[in-house]
Amino acid sequence: MSTRSDQGYFIDQCRETIAKSVSACLQIDFEAAYAGVDLGKKGLDFTIAIPRFRLQKKPQELAERVRTHFLDNPDPIIDQVIADGAFVHFMIRTQILLRSALDQVFEMSRPTGPFPHGRYGANDSGAGKKVVVEYSSPNIAKPFHAGHLRSTIIGTFLSNLYAANGWDVVRVNYLGDWGVQFGLLAVGFRKYGSEAKLSENAIMHLFEIYVKINADKDAESAAGQSGTLNEARTIFKAMEDGAPNALALWRRFRDLSVDAYKEVYSRLNIEFDEYIGESLVTSSNIDSAMEELRSKGLLAAKHKWESQPGRNYKMPPPTGDKGNPLKDDNPAWAVDLHKFKLDKPVVQKPDGTTIYMVRDIAGAIQRFERYQFDKMIYVVGDQQDLHCAQLFKILELMDAPFANRLEHINFGKVKGMSTRKGDVKFLEEILDMAQESMLSQMQTNVEKFNNVEDPSSASDQIGMTCVKIQDMLAKRINSYAFDPDRMTSFEGDTGAYLQYAHVRLCSVKRKVASELSLPQNSTLVDTDLLVEPKAREIAYVLACYPEVVRMAFKVSEPSTIVSYCFKLSHVISSALENLIVKGQGKQVAEARLLLFMCAKLVLASAMRLLSLNPLERM
Ligand code: ARG
Repeated sequence: MSTRSDQGYFIDQCRETIAKSVSACLQIDFEAAYAGVDLGKKGLDFTIAIPRFRLQKKPQELAERVRTHFLDNPDPIIDQVIADGAFVHFMIRTQILLRSALDQVFEMSRPTGPFPHGRYGANDSGAGKKVVVEYSSPNIAKPFHAGHLRSTIIGTFLSNLYAANGWDVVRVNYLGDWGVQFGLLAVGFRKYGSEAKLSENAIMHLFEIYVKINADKDAESAAGQSGTLNEARTIFKAMEDGAPNALALWRRFRDLSVDAYKEVYSRLNIEFDEYIGESLVTSSNIDSAMEELRSKGLLAAKHKWESQPGRNYKMPPPTGDKGNPLKDDNPAWAVDLHKFKLDKPVVQKPDGTTIYMVRDIAGAIQRFERYQFDKMIYVVGDQQDLHCAQLFKILELMDAPFANRLEHINFGKVKGMSTRKGDVKFLEEILDMAQESMLSQMQTNVEKFNNVEDPSSASDQIGMTCVKIQDMLAKRINSYAFDPDRMTSFEGDTGAYLQYAHVRLCSVKRKVASELSLPQNSTLVDTDLLVEPKAREIAYVLACYPEVVRMAFKVSEPSTIVSYCFKLSHVISSALENLIVKGQGKQVAEARLLLFMCAKLVLASAMRLLSLNPLERM
């Protein structure tokens, strides 16, 4: 469990009470005892594992001692202490749990300052600290592939999570908007481009051109020619030298693509503070980074024969006719990281044009100058594990003052995202497909469907929820198979199920709206009337939310929050069948309504953390 916070959460108060007693009884440090109080499993509220304190006595004996200590020094919060082998379990007094958890959720979910939904679950552990989160980062003119989608979804979540933990978050999109491919695209546009198509659908059209011109280039190269590639290189060189013509065309491609991306992002509830991009890494920053690498003795020549990527050993130069080593007068510049088992990444090509790696090095320095971040996170797929490790190592060797503030948050691949059009699926296609599927499922219940204000937007929101939940369901490093049917089902742990759980809670309130409403102040509601075990279970899950937010933060895992959402939805779903609100006596009805409204508030808040838009009707 994480360290203490001063938000005054009930769950922390419980842990503190337990820790105080355990620390007095076993004569251990309070902080150590506090860190040892875990959330319980299987209906138990809290558990401590005695062996973790590494004391000289038998754990069973100590567990028993903790139990009797509580009996001798009772605390009103603690109802039961169970010694269970080397473990001790603690149960909170039900009435206090219900009272405190529900009041706290209700009170802390009110709008405050810049937080329209309050701050229940959030904490201030990151107060005064700034994090830059880089995510999405598609390459203009190339397809937005599943890796970019995952980066977008996970990066948005992490940004929200850091904000919920009190950090000041800067969200940046590092567009792939520079490189020889733009020279290639310019050649392609001359050959295959159409102004009309460009303004109609820039991303699609640029991609079409990109595919055609690449095919031309490959065909030429198979025939031992390189006209197209040379032309592309010349244009890119002109771009790097600042030639207005070359830059004007590039800028149009970039602007149109960014506009198109912004539309899709807004459909996904995704925002950036800044669109930066490889093109914005200044040449003076690149030059000084190169100069620093040189002066620190980090640059090494890399010869053509060394150039296989991913190789982790040095190859001797091939020999010519007479057994003499072949000469290479024009090597690239690289940083030799073999010592660290990180290969030998190239930082500058023989023709002097910049490449991905050096733009990343200079870009990191530039971002530190601009943001003075305490932490910077790169949300990039695991195919770039090596690239990121190399980047971080090079910055460390350069003594960059922020080198230890960098983190690569990686994730596995999505399998099977292919269409008739080839082996890519455009993001819009995926979203449209999910929306259509949701719409047709919603239409099966005519009565409900007629009550949905804007079915097209609702089905779009649910569809996106499905895409995102499929993506964040398991640990991020796992790859998963893209499965549209499974993803959009109402059964099992899907986005549709989650939205449905929220909608059901909203309808509880709607159904009694004419006869019942909650008082402004929840303490006027008699929570002692919530005597059913399911009510207790819900209150406990709600009380745990602030801790779950901290746990997710510790491991940067969206799945921690997704699992929490499903756990909450499952208890809600079974409670809704037993704890009826409508038609009960006023006080019981009120207490149950409070319970369900608190559940709704927390579910909505967890969903928003996942960048989902909780719906009222569907
Ligand atoms: N645009 C890159 C790609 O699609 C991802 C950028 C990752 N971020 C970085 N700083 N290198 O592969």
